[in-house]
Amino acid sequence: MKLEVTHLSRAFGSHKALDGLSLAIENAHSLVLVGPSGGGKSTLLRILAGLETPDSGTVAINDVPLLFDEPQLLQHRRRIGVVFQAFNLFPHLSALENITLPLTAVHGHTRSEAQDIAMEQLRRFQLEAKAAQKPAALSGGQRQRIAIARALAVQPQMLLLDEPTSALDPSMTAEVLETIALLRDQGRDFVLATHEMSFARRVADRIALVSNGRVAELSEPGPFFDTPISPVTREFLAKVV
Ligand SMILES: Nc1ncnc2c1ncn2[C@@H]1O[C@H](COP(=O)(O)OP(=O)(O)O)[C@@H](O)[C@H]1O
Ligand SMILES: [Mg+2]
Repeated sequence: MKLEVTHLSRAFGSHKALDGLSLAIENAHSLVLVGPSGGGKSTLLRILAGLETPDSGTVAINDVPLLFDEPQLLQHRRRIGVVFQAFNLFPHLSALENITLPLTAVHGHTRSEAQDIAMEQLRRFQLEAKAAQKPAALSGGQRQRIAIARALAVQPQMLLLDEPTSALDPSMTAEVLETIALLRDQGRDFVLATHEMSFARRVADRIALVSNGRVAELSEPGPFFDTPISPVTREFLAKVV
């Protein structure tokens, strides 16, 4: 993917969640966002998802500008898959129905097409035995893997993942991280915000340190972790690694 974000700003009241954030990547499948809580990662992801509108600045994905008017945003949201920290699934629907719903309701598939696509996704993630289960009967890790399967079922242009493991205990984190690693191996395009540094290093083609609503550093994971340039990055890594 190619992603160009320029001078993106978004304030909530007097607080600038994004303060002229810019970044540009090209020829990369995965961008990983790290940085202190409150730095602006989720706000950036929500804007990329078309769920939030910036006060100023521009976004272009694969050279296509993202236009922040409602009809365009509606189109954009259909092309993007989103997985949040938790509560991604509809609690009253089975795993299978969670995946088929967007396919029939938003993407115009027939019921039987949607079921075929959903079962294929469940098989791909070795979750077919869970097809009839409601989210409450699944582990947290299984729920997040179903959420990822659902996001992929609509063949999104890119996947946005906002701390998908931070609500999970460590035993369940691993299975979700393996699922994300699989996406990387498949050459899927995704932007991931995470606090899992060793995982970030493993799956990132590019890694960005987001702090105070800006990108303090953007590079490949080797240099990012081994020879960080920005004092902001150094301070952050000293705390978390
Ligand atoms: N909807 C909102 N209303 C008010 N403040 C918000 C909202 N969303 C984010 N913020 C604030 O914007 C800042 C950036 O938040 P966020 O993008 O969630 O950072 P991160 O994901 O890096 O932790 C934080 O100070 C947060 O409290
Ligand atoms: Mg966040």
